[in-house]
Amino acid sequence: MRISVIGCGYLGAVHAACMAKLGHEVVGIDVDERKISELQAGRAPFFEPGLPELLDEVLATGRLKFSSSMADANGADVHFLCVGTPQRKGEYAADLKYVDAAFASLLDSVEPGNVVVGKSTVPVGTASRLADELAERHPEAVLAWNPEFLREGFAVKDTLTPDRFVYGIPAGEAGEKATAALDEVYQTPLSMGTRRLTADYATAELVKAAANSFLATKISFINAMAEVCEVTGADVTILADAIGLDDRIGRKFLNAGVGFGGGCLPKDIRAFMARAGELGADQALTFLKEVDDINVRRRLRAVELTRDLVGGSLLGKRITVLGAAFKPNSDDVRDSPALSIAAQLQLQGADVTVTDPEAIEGARRRFPEIAYEADLTAAMSGADALLLLTEWDEYKNLTPEVAAKAVGSKNILDGRNVIDPATWRAAGWNYKGIGRP
Ligand code: UDX
Repeated sequence: MRISVIGCGYLGAVHAACMAKLGHEVVGIDVDERKISELQAGRAPFFEPGLPELLDEVLATGRLKFSSSMADANGADVHFLCVGTPQRKGEYAADLKYVDAAFASLLDSVEPGNVVVGKSTVPVGTASRLADELAERHPEAVLAWNPEFLREGFAVKDTLTPDRFVYGIPAGEAGEKATAALDEVYQTPLSMGTRRLTADYATAELVKAAANSFLATKISFINAMAEVCEVTGADVTILADAIGLDDRIGRKFLNAGVGFGGGCLPKDIRAFMARAGELGADQALTFLKEVDDINVRRRLRAVELTRDLVGGSLLGKRITVLGAAFKPNSDDVRDSPALSIAAQLQLQGADVTVTDPEAIEGARRRFPEIAYEADLTAAMSGADALLLLTEWDEYKNLTPEVAAKAVGSKNILDGRNVIDPATWRAAGWNYKGIGRP
């Protein structure tokens, strides 16, 4: 099929490359010319494992190209809308300015019989509003909403072999047309047995909001248990293993630590609360405020634990933060717990150095006043405390002996509960984890 992908960020760039991999003829479009020239040259504008190799492979076939001109969407059968929906400044609600602008500009390229497919995470009700706008300009085109569930770090795999497809479609013939088009787009993964569910627009939009809310709730649940473990001397990691063995609960997303961050979970649960408020259903989601509060509290707790580790005062203490990205295998620092803790410590008078294998550039743009050091040993040099806040392999595999040679004092906070307390303590380290004795 001929496909256009509007928006080439974390979602769109991967989607465009994966659609070409599935055999389609794809144009990826973005207003950011720098991003487009990088992608066209086969360079991913962000760190995503497997994406550079995939870009090389599909660009060589000639099936994928990138452009900064919306006119290049002309001639596509299916147009995917993949632009961002960030949190509005000073509010909980999502900012739809990129969706609205991209959609308005795309309307000039839509032709009768085309299917416009929204993938961006939007407040419920957006799809039906856009469907009305589409119907007014192009009565013979159809809108579908096909939420994206990919995880950064696994984006290529999650796009090529997702857990499920959800199609939000209108009733009747138009819906059948949209379903047929999407089935053709996703023919390969569907033929491998990926489940596909169809629903009305509102349900499809809500599936995404509900899935992210559930994941955030799971993490905050275990972090709340960590708070209780801390005051009772219990160990949240063993607790998580034990409850996780119940397959109704499951062990995934039960890692206590400094909490969730990134470009999705935090802003999506806030946007969901804001939208429910507008719809008069705010009571239904008040628990998400608690989920958010528990999550924010983890960051404050990490600052307190660090203060304890270095003897009660942060003033002038050299703190080395291992990790800036919101999670490993990503260079994304949006709402990163690691970076937010580093900035708090710096504000409270500590002398903070942050290291990360991929995210230093983005972190420096966000918090230029913090010191950054790419070399792990140099970053740890003379530290009064190490804080492991993003569980990259190189930090998980760090040995207490190697770290001891670099630091000034053997203090470590394991903000992700990924190193073995017994090993580090046996090597003379003062170890603190989250929710474990
Ligand atoms: C998430 C959803 O997983 C994905 O389906 C959706 O499309 C977008 O949002 P992503 O933001 O890439 O994906 O990250 P994810 O792997 O879900 O992790 C989110 C955050 O939760 C990270 O900061 C991670 O460190 C944290 N986390 C995750 C925990 O603190 N504990 C856990 O047990 C799991």
